Amino acid sequence: MTDQGSSLFQMTLQQRAASVELLLTDLLSDQPHSGEISRPTRLMAAMRHGVLNGGKRLRPFLVMESAALFGADSLAALRVAAALECIHSYSLVHDDLPAMDNDDLRRGQPTVHRKFDEAAAILAGDSLLTYAFELIASEATELDAMAKVALITALARAAGVGGMTGGQALDLEAEKVKPDEAGIIRLQAMKTGALIRFACEAGAIIGNANPEDRERLAEYGSAIGLAFQLADDLLDVTADASHMGKATGKDAAAGKATLVSMHGIDWTRQQLSGLVAQAEDLLAPFGPQASLLKEAARFIAERQS
Ligand code: IPE
Ligand code: IPE
Ligand code: MG
Ligand code: MG
Ligand code: MG
Repeated sequence: MTDQGSSLFQMTLQQRAASVELLLTDLLSDQPHSGEISRPTRLMAAMRHGVLNGGKRLRPFLVMESAALFGADSLAALRVAAALECIHSYSLVHDDLPAMDNDDLRRGQPTVHRKFDEAAAILAGDSLLTYAFELIASEATELDAMAKVALITALARAAGVGGMTGGQALDLEAEKVKPDEAGIIRLQAMKTGALIRFACEAGAIIGNANPEDRERLAEYGSAIGLAFQLADDLLDVTADASHMGKATGKDAAAGKATLVSMHGIDWTRQQLSGLVAQAEDLLAPFGPQASLLKEAARFIAERQS
């Protein structure tokens, strides 16, 4: 990564994070929106704690940057990006629950069930999941009906049983019956890869890209999605909790089969380099306009938190 390219990437990531946080702060305020009867104050506070508590905002960046590649309306992309961050944040709130990974720390702060209680964490997650779909469907998201249906269908598939929640179920099973390498890759493509793939494909949908370009963006999303979870599993072994803002050493403690536990750190780093090269190849036809998405692939593979 050139220093210049990497600092432009960092700056853009921060700018996009700030705009998505501003929108989410407004959307998740205590004031009921038109058509709502009321907004329970404690539930809203739990939702805000789950979403507006830091986070790299990488998935919103990918939605917005992929949409920009096709010259798409940036406000519509921002709203879809916010919807996806609601779903990602909900997945973390539920992932941290005692019945799942039982974690006390997330994004450097107490997890939602520690700061509030388990019922609040469950309901905050449910509410964020549902709200995400309202956000995309809403009139204020200025996209045509066909694009909205395509986004809602792809997001439902990515977040559901064939994607994130299905992957989470397989991930918990992997603590008991160890899957083989293909099984680990499949579950990671579901639990983490599917939402990241959606982020990139969403940009192509918002930008009304042709089917070939849409598929290319989705494939790029799959490559970086796999890299993302590989890096997460690597950091679980190599990084400390204060740096990550969440507990580390959890996978080994749970006896969880990961590609890192199976093949070791050096192999994993080589795999990460291969996935970055694959992501760059997929973006090659877009030329220099895709340079920040190429930097994103490197960032994901080389990230330290
Ligand atoms: C963490 O995701 C959970 C995984 C899918 C591995 P991130 O590393 O994107 O978490 P935040 O949003 O930056 O906190
Ligand atoms: C979680 O994977 C992926 C999700 C779908 C939330 P992990 O359980 O490894 O994520 P962290 O390490 O807690 O962020
Ligand atoms: Mg987990
Ligand atoms: Mg976890
Ligand atoms: Mg992890």
